[in-house]
Amino acid sequence: MERRNFLRLSATSAMAVAVAPSLITQKLYAEDGSLFQTFEKVQLKDSEGNPMKSATLIEEENYVFNYPHAATPAIMVNLLSPANKDVKLKAEDGTEYVFRGGIGAKGTIVAYSAICAHQLTYPQKSMSMFQYVPTTGKTLAYEHAGVFVCTSHLAAYDPKQGGKVLGGPAKQGLASIILEIDADDNIWAVAVLGPNKFQEFFDAFKQDLKAEYGRRGAKKLVKTEAVVKTLKNYSAEIIQA
Ligand code: FES
Repeated sequence: MERRNFLRLSATSAMAVAVAPSLITQKLYAEDGSLFQTFEKVQLKDSEGNPMKSATLIEEENYVFNYPHAATPAIMVNLLSPANKDVKLKAEDGTEYVFRGGIGAKGTIVAYSAICAHQLTYPQKSMSMFQYVPTTGKTLAYEHAGVFVCTSHLAAYDPKQGGKVLGGPAKQGLASIILEIDADDNIWAVAVLGPNKFQEFFDAFKQDLKAEYGRRGAKKLVKTEAVVKTLKNYSAEIIQA
């Protein structure tokens, strides 16, 4: 572990740590081995600019927003039951990290980077082959729904266990987007936990991203607020398997 990347985090929760502005965007490793990277603190708002409130999230809806970069999509879901707490996970390179659980009154709200850990499939404006499949749905990727599925090669990820791989070709789980809820029930995205695919994503889709976001626009950090859309409003078509 490189000393310049090392930050002693609170033993109680990585989410509770106060991070000096100078450390924002650096990669941080908690003393328990957690892979934890802080970014801009960003408030989630709907398309009309209204703050998203945790109490009003529809159960099992796919809420898409771009975070931490302008072009990197994430999906937030209010699950039917609470996410597990303190789930130990391991990145492909062996780095260990701990998923602390969901937020909200029941601990059911989670968010993940929506870039597949296998070959980077992600929700696009034209279509999405990556989504949370509600428990009432069906998928070929796993024995039951209520999981994140990438239709490209049927990777399945567990939203209750920090994005852990349940099936398919992915070698590591999804990166979690760390959320906070303030005293007024507003939702904020504050950090990323676990191995992310951001740089590979920028490299793989360089030309597409340049066309959509302009030169260097895709990598820009989202600041202040992020617009949240349901997946059916974000992508013209959803491909499910
Ligand atoms: S790109 Fe997602 S399973 Fe292959």
